Amino acid sequence: MALDIVILAAGKGSRMKSNKPKVLHPVAGQPMLSHVITAAKALQPASITIVIGHEAEQIKAHYSTDQSLLWVEQTEQLGTGHAVLQALGNVEDENDVLVLYGDVPLISTTTLSALMAEKSPVKLLTAIMDEPFGYGRIVRKSGEVVAIVEQKDANEQQLEIIEINTGILSAPGAFLKSVLPTLSANNAQGEYYLTDIIGAAAAANIAISGVHPSHNYETLGVNDRVQLADVERIYQHNQALVLLKAGVTLTDPARLDIRGTVTCGSDVVVEPNVIFEGEVRLADGVIIEANCIVKNSQIGKNTRILSHSVIDKATIKENANIGPFARIRPGTCVENDAKIGNFVETKNTVLGEGAKINHLSYVGDTTVGSKANVGAGTITCNYDGVNKHKTTIGAGAFIGSNSALVAPVIIGDNATIAAGSTITTEVPSEALSVARSKQRNIDAWKRPQKN
Ligand code: UD1
Ligand code: CA
Repeated sequence: MALDIVILAAGKGSRMKSNKPKVLHPVAGQPMLSHVITAAKALQPASITIVIGHEAEQIKAHYSTDQSLLWVEQTEQLGTGHAVLQALGNVEDENDVLVLYGDVPLISTTTLSALMAEKSPVKLLTAIMDEPFGYGRIVRKSGEVVAIVEQKDANEQQLEIIEINTGILSAPGAFLKSVLPTLSANNAQGEYYLTDIIGAAAAANIAISGVHPSHNYETLGVNDRVQLADVERIYQHNQALVLLKAGVTLTDPARLDIRGTVTCGSDVVVEPNVIFEGEVRLADGVIIEANCIVKNSQIGKNTRILSHSVIDKATIKENANIGPFARIRPGTCVENDAKIGNFVETKNTVLGEGAKINHLSYVGDTTVGSKANVGAGTITCNYDGVNKHKTTIGAGAFIGSNSALVAPVIIGDNATIAAGSTITTEVPSEALSVARSKQRNIDAWKRPQKN
């Protein structure tokens, strides 16, 4: 049967104490709502409708490039039943309608698929909670679900029930269209409760089944930053487990953050306080030392990233050494066996095989030939205040310390640049270039005396 999905995201989220809409707060670098959308899309629904209210424009703007999403506004938040009612225009009578929540980001496709595999027309995701306070309780008669009673409306006996409503449920489109408009707000909160459709289904002898999630944490909702932090830790813990089980050594699985996807070869080691963002690929034997940030990059076999390095949109090939304290910016490609040392910044630069930039340099818009040695303090002056220019350093070249290479400029193969030179024109291959003022010594120099 085809499926329409409705995601509720109209709530204010005042407990977040934020100017940002609650559902745009990130878990693992992605808005909570994006996690829910991803889980929803995996079910290949006919439609996804998101019900928005507070800060509707900001939320919609965030997804402006995704044409597959439908949006409806609930201008007043009169309850979950009223919220789903707003979306029914996008729902087919004969489809199942699955209700999800923009602030319940850990829900998995596995759990949702299991729920939707149920045969009964109404499907409820329920959970057993030792501390059910605050949740709607699942009322059963002879084992069958007959109603959901909200915390604030429950009697003492009902408050003892530990099977709770996670909020996630599915019901046929036609049924929702007939029941939701008839709901009353005559309850403790004066709201139109989505949960009242369960009593209505039971009364109409429509079968209701209850399914538990694969893990209870999947149904955790986020109302404040404490819960946001809890959910983030659960998410990160799960990702760390996946890596550990795949054979990656994590010195401390609790001190790793993955905001994207990481693919690892065998015998990869990741030390504490590392952050991976976007798509990161680590080949066999890669070691990432403590406190590194690696974004959208690939690291080749047996390469070691020493501590405190930041790598962004770069390709580092095999047996290379980067850092400590290196900043590898977008467009950097480090070939096999090359070495980048401490306090070196590179950008849009190819470092040839076995080449070295060991200390305190800025190398940008540059091609460094194989086995070249770029000395400490070398700066490529690639920017004239308006345009960026290219520097080419030939294979085997030796750039003496504290040289300034004023781009555009070419240093030939095996050329040598004397320390402290400012190079403004091409240096031929095999040549020595000395471009600094000549040293002058004054004998028996007397320092000025104090008056
Ligand atoms: C709801 C359920 C309760 C369940 C609990 C699980 C109802 C009546 N109760 O209670 O049985 O145990 O979730 O967490 O459904 N929303 C809107 N528009 C509205 C009202 C709510 O979009 O008019 C959205 C909120 O932004 C929120 C979600 O729906 O994301 C749930 O609403 P909330 O009022 O928090 O429901 P609960 O009282 O927690
Ligand atoms: Ca409520």
